[in-house]
Amino acid sequence: MSVNVRHLALLALAASACRGIEPLPSPAPLDAVGQARVELGQALFFDGALSADGEVPCAACHRPEHAGAEPEPVSIGVGGARGRRNAPSVFNASLEIAQFWDGREEELDAQALGPLFAADEMGLDAATLVARVSASERYVEAFARAFPGDADPIRADTVARALAAYERRLAWPGRVDRFLEGDEGALTAEERAGYDFFAGNCAFCHDGAGVGGQRFERLGDRVPWPADRREDLGRAEVTGDPDDELVFLVPSLRHVGATAPYFHDGSVDTLEEAVRLMGKHQLDQTLSEEEVTQIVAFLRALDGDVPTELLAAPQ
Ligand code: HEC
Ligand code: HEC
Repeated sequence: MSVNVRHLALLALAASACRGIEPLPSPAPLDAVGQARVELGQALFFDGALSADGEVPCAACHRPEHAGAEPEPVSIGVGGARGRRNAPSVFNASLEIAQFWDGREEELDAQALGPLFAADEMGLDAATLVARVSASERYVEAFARAFPGDADPIRADTVARALAAYERRLAWPGRVDRFLEGDEGALTAEERAGYDFFAGNCAFCHDGAGVGGQRFERLGDRVPWPADRREDLGRAEVTGDPDDELVFLVPSLRHVGATAPYFHDGSVDTLEEAVRLMGKHQLDQTLSEEEVTQIVAFLRALDGDVPTELLAAPQ
């Protein structure tokens, strides 16, 4: 019996040690309705009219030039309201099992209603949203194309679905995917060394095609996170379970080179420092400067080739 138990434990260990990163396929071609929905979502994403003061579109915090993240430590919403968390990238969010740092929303289709109606983000209500969108002839036509057969298509849920359709289009493979599919020359020797370290040590948590977004883990898993940065309880605020304190959704690291500052509170400015902290607190290792440089080179190779026409308001 005890032999079997040990055997099972070893099998479990072997299975978990196999967690790794996976190549990301290019998004599938779209049919006409799919294309209309993406274009509508893209227009909505860049439109300040979706916010109470007309000045805070989704793209104010999820900026295309920062790979859908923001350069501020924490977000600034309508009327200059300050949030308490850093805006994560919307690129590849569709690959994650849940949304937000604490994973409180599971569906990307419903997620957009959060920022639209949050007082410190866009600060709108459903009736005002529908009224503003309906006032535009262009939107009336675009909603009819994107939701054919729906007699009254302009609603909060269709706004959210169009935004999600656009966000799903922001997951594109790049160099690292060619490498993962067998093209050894797609990474430099330095990036390759970083990959080897990452695959053996970090991919246990940052796994799958998103290089993260697949599980919840504790920040400070091996060495407690600094005491002065433990205000945000993460997952515990959603579940009410003290065991979930400082547990967060492991973020996707795709495009991470462009999404500084780092961590849920935007408290770390450079990728080098973020990697050193991960080594210390998640692995209980002091990484050498050479290792840090190699890992950062690999992380910067995680950019995907997102088509530029997706990264501005459609013409
Ligand atoms: C005022 C800044 C701000 C605006 C405007 C904003 N967001 Fe966000 N967004 C954030 C912040 C901050 C978070 C993280 C919040 C958290 O984890 O609690 C976030 C999280 C997200 C996520 C989850 C990503 C992930 O990897 O978990 C998505 C998707 C997203 N926003 C989409 C949108 C969409 C769509 C809009 C427009 C309807 C929008 N956001 C408007 C600041 C903003
Ligand atoms: C035990 C799980 C675990 C391991 C192992 C781990 N991480 Fe993380 N990582 C996380 C979690 C959880 C977060 C989110 C922390 C937060 O809430 O700010 C994170 C965040 C990050 C971030 C910040 C991303 C952002 O967008 O702000 C980077 C960069 C990162 N990890 C890189 C690494 C590297 C490199 C390694 C290996 C040296 C590693 N991680 C190992 C769980 C882990």
